[in-house]
Amino acid sequence: MCGIVGYIGHQEAYPIIINGLQRLEYRGYDSAGIALYDGTNIKLSKTKGKVSDLKNKIESEISTDGTLGIGHTRWATHGVPNDVNSHPHSSNSGDLVIIHNGIIENYDSLKKELIKRGYTFKSDTDTEVLINLIEDVQKSENLKLGKAVQIALNQVVGAYAIAVFDKKKPNEIVVAKLGSPLAIGIGDDEFFIASDASPFIEYTKNAIYLEDKEMAIIRRGKKIKVRKIENDTEVDPYIQELKLNLEQIEKGGYEHFMLKEIFEQPSAILDTFRGRLLSNEAIIKMVGVEDNMKKFLAADRIIIVACGTSWHAGLVAEYIFEDLARIPVEVEYASEFRYRNPVITEKDVVIAISQSGETADTLAAIKLAKSKGAFVFGVCNVVGSTIARETHAGAYTHAGPEIGVASTKAFTTQITVLTLIALRLARAKGTMSSSEFRHHLIELETIPGKVEEALKSDAYVETVSEIYKDSKNFLYLGRGFNFPVALEGALKLKEISYIHAEGYPAAEMKHGPIALIDEQMPVVVIATKKGHYEKVVSNIQEIKSRKGKIIGIVTKGDTSVKELADHVIEVPDTLECLSPLLTTIPLQLLSYHIAVMLNKNVDQPRNLAKSVTVE
Ligand code: M6R
Repeated sequence: MCGIVGYIGHQEAYPIIINGLQRLEYRGYDSAGIALYDGTNIKLSKTKGKVSDLKNKIESEISTDGTLGIGHTRWATHGVPNDVNSHPHSSNSGDLVIIHNGIIENYDSLKKELIKRGYTFKSDTDTEVLINLIEDVQKSENLKLGKAVQIALNQVVGAYAIAVFDKKKPNEIVVAKLGSPLAIGIGDDEFFIASDASPFIEYTKNAIYLEDKEMAIIRRGKKIKVRKIENDTEVDPYIQELKLNLEQIEKGGYEHFMLKEIFEQPSAILDTFRGRLLSNEAIIKMVGVEDNMKKFLAADRIIIVACGTSWHAGLVAEYIFEDLARIPVEVEYASEFRYRNPVITEKDVVIAISQSGETADTLAAIKLAKSKGAFVFGVCNVVGSTIARETHAGAYTHAGPEIGVASTKAFTTQITVLTLIALRLARAKGTMSSSEFRHHLIELETIPGKVEEALKSDAYVETVSEIYKDSKNFLYLGRGFNFPVALEGALKLKEISYIHAEGYPAAEMKHGPIALIDEQMPVVVIATKKGHYEKVVSNIQEIKSRKGKIIGIVTKGDTSVKELADHVIEVPDTLECLSPLLTTIPLQLLSYHIAVMLNKNVDQPRNLAKSVTVE
């Protein structure tokens, strides 16, 4: 995790870096820092806290002039969040300065060696070890910075996206990448460095995304030189044209990114199936699926790997694939899959789901599956992300940037993409008749409008939130397609309001969780008409007889649950397999309003970060 930003050019670096850090705070926000170079002096300021704290501190601490600089927003791995452990870190001589996103796994042995050679350390970080290693290499062999960085990185085990500059070389920044993202924006005689393109989107639409094990020497006014870290060979970098625009990454009048992203879901889902779902012609067009149809059809099974909310989307997909396309599906936590010697063969298709496309565990699971000969298909939101590039083929969700740490529109758009794939495979396999297929397409096309309608419950959900905001525990229940939605609802509440919440299959309640139910316990039950409705109503009866408080998520016009529940929140009717796209909405709103009422930091909950690029 952590966000990095750098600039070298003809403009003042400080405003570009501080704004860029604010856009990257989703990657980490426990401390921040900047180093600026005015041609004579390195001016460094850093602090525990958010980028806004840094901004308040920096302007009274240093002069912010200089046309070269680097900045960092941190999610701590080595060393607690405090001023000293914040980045940038300087070498012992004070000449070299670094920012780093990632982990140097062998930092301890490197540090011991450096201590023997007389180096001292102020912080507990692995990054300070790296910058001193670079200095040691540079001094002992009297090398240029780029060469010293390359030699040092070849001694390092771990992951990194780094930017380094040297006081003695006022016109140069050296960057390198392995396992953490790094983009270089190319402007007119100026260069921008960042973890993603959002910090420089208003300055240039041209960017290079470094590949793993590549480094670049960025010199003021010169052409960028990209090299392989391992053997120094020069690489001709691909310059990508960016599609992102500024409005997409701003709050647009909403109080929080999360709320904006919840309300963006109708258009995000529409964007996901636009050009792919052609209901008039009764076809689904997805290039990545079409080009690899043979592999999908020959697959013994589909293994889905993902983490967190993306894993929940995978669970929904398990129900959809098995129901529509009759393909066996296993859904795995990427973090477990990669470590348990799983049985994978060339006849398996692995689908990796990731909003950020940078999650370390998912990436490692992909590498493992590829090494066993499986075909790996990615479902990512961030275009050009590492997972998008590491997979054999894939489909983007096209949800637009998701900044709030709690995933919302990523979840519904992932389900949309996976539904399209399942429908396409069902048609190819003949497990659905053409009229059923067409009916599903027509119904899927109505989902954006129905999500819009579900969002109208916002004010009522806010009222319900007020009643339950002080509860210490919540239970979420759902069955079938909506069991994963119960898990997702519980995760949303936990991560942004810090209230303990558990999701369960409704029928599983009687095997244990029912013991928790008393008059203090709010139970959110997803009880839509088509999902084992009568059975769920029986579960609601069981909760009621133990005096639990029932919040029912029901199909519009429902009367039975209304009689039993303390509150009901209606969603429009749809096909059972599409219902998660609607039942999710009130659960997102519930967690959002409770977190706001409890004064929590909705977009940047404690201890979390948007993309988890460490194990
Ligand atoms: O970027 P990814 O989809 O790979 O991220 C996976 C999880 O880290 C992510 O879904 C996390 O659980 C979210 N904070 C959930 O809201």
